[in-house]
Amino acid sequence: MKEEDVPIAASFVIFGATGDLAARKIVPALYNLARGGHLHPGTRVLCVGRKEFTSEGYRSAMELSTRQFSHTGFDQETWDALAQRIDYLVGDLDDESTYAMLSTMLADSSMPETRLFYLAVGPDQFPRVAYGIARAGIGTAACHDTACATRLIVEKPYGRDLSSARALSEKLQHSFDERDIFRIDHYLGKETVQNLLYFRFANSVFEPLWNRNYIERVEIEVLETVSVGSRGGYYDGAGAARDMLQNHLIQLLCLTAMEPPSSMDPEALRDEKVKVLSALPHYSAEEFCARSLRGRYVAGRQGGRPEGQAIGAYLSEPKVAPGSMTETFVALRLELDNWRFAGVPFILRTGKALERQQSEIRVYFKPTPGRLFAMPDGSGLGRNVLTLRIQPDEGLFLSFNAKVPGVARVAGHELRFSYREAEGYMPEAYERLIDDAIAGDSTLFIRADETEAAWAFVDRLEEAWASPGAPPLVEYPAGSPPPELPPGAR
Ligand code: BG6
Repeated sequence: MKEEDVPIAASFVIFGATGDLAARKIVPALYNLARGGHLHPGTRVLCVGRKEFTSEGYRSAMELSTRQFSHTGFDQETWDALAQRIDYLVGDLDDESTYAMLSTMLADSSMPETRLFYLAVGPDQFPRVAYGIARAGIGTAACHDTACATRLIVEKPYGRDLSSARALSEKLQHSFDERDIFRIDHYLGKETVQNLLYFRFANSVFEPLWNRNYIERVEIEVLETVSVGSRGGYYDGAGAARDMLQNHLIQLLCLTAMEPPSSMDPEALRDEKVKVLSALPHYSAEEFCARSLRGRYVAGRQGGRPEGQAIGAYLSEPKVAPGSMTETFVALRLELDNWRFAGVPFILRTGKALERQQSEIRVYFKPTPGRLFAMPDGSGLGRNVLTLRIQPDEGLFLSFNAKVPGVARVAGHELRFSYREAEGYMPEAYERLIDDAIAGDSTLFIRADETEAAWAFVDRLEEAWASPGAPPLVEYPAGSPPPELPPGAR
């Protein structure tokens, strides 16, 4: 969806085609790509699922979900044109014949040679499906010496710790080249997240200030109002650190702290992110505990308002183990072990069932010296704070001080840029990611070494929390503001 993009025709295969991800994200994203003229008219979509659907029945089901989940509304003509190119194949992913059938379908001369296999299935099935594809001769190996390209797209959760993530990569790499494995972190598909790079490296005003000499601290937060709800089966084995910190927040940290890449080449950019990851600190268990907070919601009300909808306690959510110690909130203060940001605290926060939904990065700049313009109450000047808001109300805000007319004092103000007010189409994250995967651009996908370095860090944190002296989980009523870090760690 870059301006210069000329869409490529692809054979787009979705495994797990009757699941939530396909219905809510993948198919609506394909539809919106088609609507915007970004899906090549020759693209074919092959959907594989275990449920008994005819292609006709599957298309009708997907039309309903596209009507519901497309963020641009629904245009019948666009849908009809796309639907003609969607086929459904009933198949068991454990059964070799499924892959053989797929192979026959892909061999048809009407099927484009660029192939994408999207694994919208549980992570335990990733290796099996990748292996099935490879055995059927329709994976990377089959394409190396020809003009075609073949890619594997995998979703999170990508392992639950370093060793499982590494084992998973090894298994996938048996069947696919690492450069053909596209690991999704949907945060990187968000326009406002990509803007971090553009904003940092396209503005000479901020770039020189982006270091320990001028930045006092950085806060990165992804706060959600939603509770765990029906996802207890997965979430209880993960928790906020594995579900959000390991991927989305650490990726935001990388984009905030990385050095400019030598080019926009995917490897150059990912190399720079890996350098940030290798500067993640090696705290002792005591230090980790002193710098972090784990929380869990108890019963409360949406938004913390008496009239808000009631939210049950985490422990009462379906499929959550009795006595579970899984956290639904995590806050952590860390300092990167590198030249640019040595000594600058990065405060990361994320959690569920909180008072507000807000994802943003706030960069606090150091104050000017002296007390020339102390505030009327005697306190110092307000900080210059740059807020990059990812959602909702996507935008950029810069707080600054200015003289109050007629009196000799300063007051705080804000410069605001709103994406919604500025004209332009805001693609949904999956549109961008699917479009890039078809084009073979892996910039916004996670490389194996990135995910492993992030897991190594989260493993150290989890080990610290499991250590004998670790502080207990802090309970917060659903709908309350995010719990505060211990005083020494704020
Ligand atoms: C997912 C997590 O990766 O991201 C969810 O598994 C979380 O728990 C979601 O709710 C948040 O994504 P977004 O785009 O709604 O901020």
